[in-house]
Amino acid sequence: MNQKAPKPPLLHTEMLIDGEFVAGEGQVEEILNPATGQTIAGVGEASPEQIERAVAAAHEAFDPWSEATPAARAGMLLALADAIEANAEEFARIESMNCGKPYVRALEDEIPAIVDCYRFFAGAARCMHGAAANEYLPDHTSMIRRDPVGVVASIAPWNYPLMMAAWKLAPALAAGNTVVIKPSEQTPLTTLRLARIMAEIFPRGVVNVVCGRGESVGQPLVEHPRVRMVSMTGDVATGHKILQAAARTLMRTHLELGGKAPVIVFDDADLAEVVEGIKVFGYYNAGQDCTAACRVYASDKVYERFVADLSGAVAAIRVGGQDDAETECGPLITERQRSRVASFVERAASAGHMQITAGGKVRSGAGFFYQPTVIAGALQDDEIVRREVFGPVVSVTRVSDTEQAIAWANDSDYGLASSVWTKDIGKALRVAKKLQYGCTWINTHFMLANEMPHGGMKSSGYGKDMSMYALEDYTAVRHVMAKL
Ligand code: NAI
Repeated sequence: MNQKAPKPPLLHTEMLIDGEFVAGEGQVEEILNPATGQTIAGVGEASPEQIERAVAAAHEAFDPWSEATPAARAGMLLALADAIEANAEEFARIESMNCGKPYVRALEDEIPAIVDCYRFFAGAARCMHGAAANEYLPDHTSMIRRDPVGVVASIAPWNYPLMMAAWKLAPALAAGNTVVIKPSEQTPLTTLRLARIMAEIFPRGVVNVVCGRGESVGQPLVEHPRVRMVSMTGDVATGHKILQAAARTLMRTHLELGGKAPVIVFDDADLAEVVEGIKVFGYYNAGQDCTAACRVYASDKVYERFVADLSGAVAAIRVGGQDDAETECGPLITERQRSRVASFVERAASAGHMQITAGGKVRSGAGFFYQPTVIAGALQDDEIVRREVFGPVVSVTRVSDTEQAIAWANDSDYGLASSVWTKDIGKALRVAKKLQYGCTWINTHFMLANEMPHGGMKSSGYGKDMSMYALEDYTAVRHVMAKL
């Protein structure tokens, strides 16, 4: 069923600096609708003076904000959650236009999780735990404090712009930090809409939004001497650049750098459930997800049937625009990302030993669509098994036993997410224990809860998003000792 395209929402293009809305004075970035390739807005990037003003405003706002009671900060986060909920359709509409994702998915999956994230951290702000105060030296009382670190620069990626803003803003603000957030240059529109609401709720300077590219705005922001912490989600190479900047200032860093999630399918798994799971969790958001179920290790005994069933299911995935209620897979974010994905598949096809059993082609016509793809017969050393594609492509590799499955799953630079599929819960838990990943799901994949941490190991970074662990990441542990 095709839905009639709704009236486009008003798009805000001004940044928020020190409580004021200002147009970026630098180069104008064209913002595209990835489903049509057409320009929907132009957003000017922050000039060096504007970056300076944003950091100065956050610095000025820090003292009073860090002294606000947790209850006061929580009240504002709850007000922000309520306002996003009240404007859910508008946010979902802008997000789907800017990212190409199906409107219904943005509205029904993402917005409730985003609202819940602010509500979780509103509560968490008031419930910090710590060691009990005690006299570890006679006549001296020691206590632990967790205090905010100062100005946080938050750098967000393009795949879930409003959710990444929530994951970064909510714990940072709850803990009493002030923030300068830079959305991705490709997808700033929901963060700019959010700025309109945040300006009405938070004191001036507590949150600032600046736009622009990584080199011209992100880099000077993270190198600013008044920035005390950088939180970034994106590419591993960008993580390296941020750590180089941090080596000079010794600022705190919080990095979430992508993944290549292994999916171990044992021969006693419910194959229909696995196929359905990978059809959803491998291709959600067109596979542009750092936890995407993209690297399958299927047990020898079920390999042939699994490849056939998965390929059939994936070939039936409905690819389409945002407003078609039946769309399961939208376009990629840019033409560049689509060519990157296409070239991974071309190289796999030309290797000779792999079979493209579903998809494998660019979808002709407008927009940056790529067919959902399955690559069977992949070997452990193949590029498609080792590198993050960030597109609708799943590889399947045959494994002979549990030890090999664990060894190959762990043989990766990445360490963000993984899953194990079997009816034997004992085996699942033994395997989960051995997997070097920030998260292991059993008989599911990709499910997140704001109470639970999300973050990686190895080259996937070490910052934890969501949960009390994120609140800890955005605070410094301090010891206060009094001589009695
Ligand atoms: P990217 O790492 O270049 O961009 C992420 C953010 O970092 C953007 O806001 C960008 O402007 C900013 N940035 C870039 N260079 C910077 C610098 N030197 N200093 C400060 N900020 C900087 O990622 P990109 O180009 O958008 O995507 C490339 C690949 O990264 C994807 O194909 C995918 O493999 C991975 N990626 C992973 C994500 C994840 O969720 N972990 C999200 C987005 C991309």
